[in-house]
Amino acid sequence: MEVYEAILSRRSIKHFTSAPVEVAAIDRALAAGIWAQNHHLTQPWRFSVLGPQAHRALATANGAVAAEAVQVGDDAMRERVRAGAEAKYLSKPLIVVVSCVLHGSELDRREDFAATCCAIQNIQLAAWDEGLGMQWSSNNMTRHPRAAALLGINPAEEEIIAFLYFGYPAETPPAQPRKALDDVTRRLP
Ligand SMILES: Cc1cc2nc3c(=O)[nH]c(=O)nc-3n(C[C@H](O)[C@H](O)[C@H](O)COP(=O)(O)O)c2cc1C
Repeated sequence: MEVYEAILSRRSIKHFTSAPVEVAAIDRALAAGIWAQNHHLTQPWRFSVLGPQAHRALATANGAVAAEAVQVGDDAMRERVRAGAEAKYLSKPLIVVVSCVLHGSELDRREDFAATCCAIQNIQLAAWDEGLGMQWSSNNMTRHPRAAALLGINPAEEEIIAFLYFGYPAETPPAQPRKALDDVTRRLP
């Protein structure tokens, strides 16, 4: 796939077929991530590829956290919310957690965060070329201590940036319109 074709056809994919994700394809996409540009070459990105046990544990935790957040309603309502939140994660064929090593000054951390985001973009485009869809999630669970704990991530050392949901697209949504280039560009003399 040509670069422009990949950039323009890429969509965030939220609904996947039940087909398991090819491990080699994910590894190739993650390997594209580590070629992202990165000031001082700190290589701050870390990838946690969840196997079935960790995936289920994260889904269970997501259900529990969602149920705890229910302020009004009875136990039946709480159980519906719990089951829905758990099922949502279980519907994702593969979850990769991307974290960023926390190191150096505030500026270093800002640049490392930016580099990790560049890695995620590389990964998504490479996955797209592999026929794999992906959605970047930054929901509350990515910042929840329970998620870090079950993933074995020390929040003092690494910040979770994203949960990446991968799978083969069950549907590809239409492009969401963008502002025209001239609306976001200053052309200086
Ligand atoms: C930093 C970041 C966080 C995102 N978090 C979420 C999220 O939590 N949930 C979600 O549905 N999409 C999330 N997205 C995906 C955007 O919603 C998506 O890119 C946007 O709707 C445009 O759609 P497209 O990617 O198909 O062009 C995130 C994207 C970025 C860059």
